[in-house]
Amino acid sequence: MAFEQLAESVSLIEKDEDVSAVWQTIFNTRQGQWLADRIVEFELTPENVREILATPRSKLSARERAFKTILRNRVQRGGILAQGAGLMKVGENGRGLASRWYPATFRKRILAILQVKNRISFAQGDGMEAIRRNAGRRNAAFFIDPPYTVAGRRLYACSTMDHAELFSLVSRVQGDFLMTYDNAGEIRELAKRHGFETGLVPMKNTHHAKMTELLIGRNLSWLHEAGTAEPAFFQASLEIFADSPDDRG
Ligand SMILES: C[S@@+](CC[C@H](N)C(=O)[O-])C[C@H]1O[C@@H](n2cnc3c(N)ncnc32)[C@H](O)[C@@H]1O
Repeated sequence: MAFEQLAESVSLIEKDEDVSAVWQTIFNTRQGQWLADRIVEFELTPENVREILATPRSKLSARERAFKTILRNRVQRGGILAQGAGLMKVGENGRGLASRWYPATFRKRILAILQVKNRISFAQGDGMEAIRRNAGRRNAAFFIDPPYTVAGRRLYACSTMDHAELFSLVSRVQGDFLMTYDNAGEIRELAKRHGFETGLVPMKNTHHAKMTELLIGRNLSWLHEAGTAEPAFFQASLEIFADSPDDRG
């Protein structure tokens, strides 16, 4: 939305303290460039990784906490941010720890985001509260990307969520909304109960296996019109945000 200038302003809400440290650093401080440079300058060795991961949060500045979150996400098995996840050993393609570390790509992404920084605001908080507060606004659209119902517990530190309550909340918003979920029976049932439309889009998980993700909205005619082809905006965002093995640093 921000890149394509489809909204006057974009507000991002995230609950998790460590994930928030990344967005705080990029949006609410002048340290985004530092973070981008730190990533490309970091020498990815098992010793360096262990040293950073072993440093307690209390000993890290906000921007170092942001770097640690990105590092953890890339070197822990499956990008898992929940506590207790192990480090990658063989990794993807036998590249061990480095198999998901694409420093040049991350730097490029952060610098691209900094270009549109003035259109985006970030706050650490409860997304449900933010939706409730803005429910009456006809000119606000909500993109909601909640933790998956099944894999969420394994992947994220903040994974508990009242999915039924979220559905009831979005059914009351005056503006439009789009949600992405895992294709789970419980979620399809909730969508049906509220009269929402659903559609499947292809995605790749951390093992590059093809999976489908469930889109939920009031009117997904734009998706169905696109047929089985991926809608243009998905292709555009995939190009910007897909990991690009060709520029692995
Ligand atoms: C599927 S992930 C989305 C990740 C996000 N798209 C990204 O790439 O950064 C779900 C995210 O929701 C966050 N979360 C969980 N409960 C939340 C809540 N009540 N409000 C805001 N964020 C929440 C989790 O910490 C996790 O980062």
